[in-house]
Amino acid sequence: MKKIAILASGNGSNAEEIMKYFQGSQKGKVILIGSNKKEAFVLERARKFGIDSFIFNKTEMEDGGVTKRLQENKVDFVVLAGFLLKIPDNLLHAYPNQIINIHPALLPKYGGKGMYGTKVHEAVKASGDKQTGITIHLVNENYDEGKIIFQAAVSISPEDDSEAIAKKVHQLEYKYFPNVIESLL
Ligand code: GAR
Repeated sequence: MKKIAILASGNGSNAEEIMKYFQGSQKGKVILIGSNKKEAFVLERARKFGIDSFIFNKTEMEDGGVTKRLQENKVDFVVLAGFLLKIPDNLLHAYPNQIINIHPALLPKYGGKGMYGTKVHEAVKASGDKQTGITIHLVNENYDEGKIIFQAAVSISPEDDSEAIAKKVHQLEYKYFPNVIESLL
């Protein structure tokens, strides 16, 4: 049974779907949630599931504190689910090809520093693109540039605003992310 940790900065609806899914999995279980925001709702969700959580800041992560915490808990696999900070080298080296991220668009479009959540959907809306989607990728030293593992698309109607686009993208995330994680364990 592989041990999964999730890092999240905000609401944590993806984290919740993942926690739920792995309650019924033979291959892995979520044992730890980490957040760089003490007010992040994901922490509340972790409590609801009885899963340990911890809070850290950017400096602690860069100094190896997160890596240490994951290793002490014998974490095998790390999932970024709405996580804002860049992953430092010490963590990348501790978990080679074992850290994945979900991005709420079809990379390489609408990726990079600062492209997070609502901002992504607003940019997609402004572009007039007829479709958007999700990308699940390995994490490397650059934002949103690791090897793509999975993508799924959804069409955008002219009347969809950025909120409607976000909703469609979230549905794709909930549908595919837990399965893709399990397939990688
Ligand atoms: C998700 O849509 C995720 O793809 C996105 O943040 C949202 C978090 O929602 N991630 C990024 O934008 C990363 N660049 P959630 O907290 O409800 O899971």
